[in-house]
Amino acid sequence: MTAPIVEILPDKAALVQHALQRVLNVIHRAIAEHGFCTLALAGGSTPQPLYQGLAEKKLPWEKLYIFWGDERYVPVHHPSSNAGMAKQAWLDRVPIPAAQIFITPTDEGDPHQSAQQYEKTLRSVFGPLQGLSPDEVPQFDLILLGMGDDGHTASLFPYTDTLAVRDRLVTVGSKDREPRITFTVSLINRSRSVMFLAAGANKQTALQQVFSPDGDDQAYPSRLVHPIGELYWLLDAEAVGNLELPTAARL
Ligand code: 6PG
Repeated sequence: MTAPIVEILPDKAALVQHALQRVLNVIHRAIAEHGFCTLALAGGSTPQPLYQGLAEKKLPWEKLYIFWGDERYVPVHHPSSNAGMAKQAWLDRVPIPAAQIFITPTDEGDPHQSAQQYEKTLRSVFGPLQGLSPDEVPQFDLILLGMGDDGHTASLFPYTDTLAVRDRLVTVGSKDREPRITFTVSLINRSRSVMFLAAGANKQTALQQVFSPDGDDQAYPSRLVHPIGELYWLLDAEAVGNLELPTAARL
């Protein structure tokens, strides 16, 4: 478990631009190292301009494999859909082969069934790509994450059973009694790189708790993210406030 790389940008626009460079570096490195890049996208609002920035870039799109770290249990054309947001901002604007974009199934009518289906899809893609045995945990090149004001990430919400799921890749969370499909901590922590993007003063309290040596993992689930690879926290100054982050770089 390596120490997180914490980078503080003056504002959200600078954060997005810096994140774009960091994501491009990871994509190019992955393709150089093993010929493809597996990426799991975050939902919410923060990453949308990042996805718009990626749509303007020239990349070997046929080498990208796209998943989602979590999804609301709505159709892709629903305004709350994380996949719908990323398609509109980025994926519908670049020639990534449709067969390499794995939208979370949300049309089975049963979130548990959908979670199992997505897990099967993950294994069917990563097995051949990484030569995994059936019980090995897939390893993403990059998982993008946001953090809610309450310290949740993906759809791993405080004090929920989802936090303890370690024997699966995908599980079912819920927010305001609405089901969510989410990667588990086990899958996230297997990743070669995990990148949090957090902006805005409303993140300050959760950030203080996440970086506190004696914070509560159940109360602030983002604390559970410790990938075997790199962990980036890309923050804007508003999210940090007067929090002391001794190892952080102000860029
Ligand atoms: C979702 C996200 C969620 C999000 C955080 C931060 O489906 O909403 O996956 O985990 O990343 O809530 O959201 P913002 O970027 O809008 O602050």
